[in-house]
Amino acid sequence: MNGQYPAPTCLSKNEERHDATIFPRGTSIDDVYFHITNILGLNVQHVEQFESRIKIHARKNSLSSIYGLGQQPFHTDFATEVRPAKYVALVRTKPVKACTTFIDLEPIFQTAQSSNALFACTVPVESRIRTIRLPSDRPLRINSVVYRPVNRAAEYATQLLPSAPIAFTAHWEQTLAVMFNNHRYAHARGPIEHGSPIERWRIH
Ligand SMILES: [Fe+2]
Repeated sequence: MNGQYPAPTCLSKNEERHDATIFPRGTSIDDVYFHITNILGLNVQHVEQFESRIKIHARKNSLSSIYGLGQQPFHTDFATEVRPAKYVALVRTKPVKACTTFIDLEPIFQTAQSSNALFACTVPVESRIRTIRLPSDRPLRINSVVYRPVNRAAEYATQLLPSAPIAFTAHWEQTLAVMFNNHRYAHARGPIEHGSPIERWRIH
């Protein structure tokens, strides 16, 4: 780590310059950590390592338990937590033929007549946030596995997600890591090979 790593691409269109950043391959994990902590001044609080799994081997109530290695729907991470991490970094040290697409949630919930969209958690015992009312509840949270729409506004908002304009895409053959604002962007992973390793960093 010497400051000579490839320049990460900042994708933010607003005043928060670190809203979304892609780190190309050629960067090292130390460089990603250095950039997040020393350049952006954020704190990496926890790092999880896991692998893409088929349905029967996936964690209960996870997206993989429903979708396995196939395409996953748009979601935000840690959606049932009281304080889901504001920033998340996804790191894939091994190149893989898969991509993750990101959409900006704000326009959907501000302009789609979806105010007072009410969602109820389907796993109340394990979660700490039982209902979410969008767009008033902050941060915005999306996860169709653990939250079901309970009114028409919520159904409408859910229907809009797949057709939302894509903000940016991480192609994991060329990308080492993506750091993004998890309170603003929802992400969806495309189909992937079994056993592809990934790290997920919680950042505040
Ligand atoms: Fe995710």
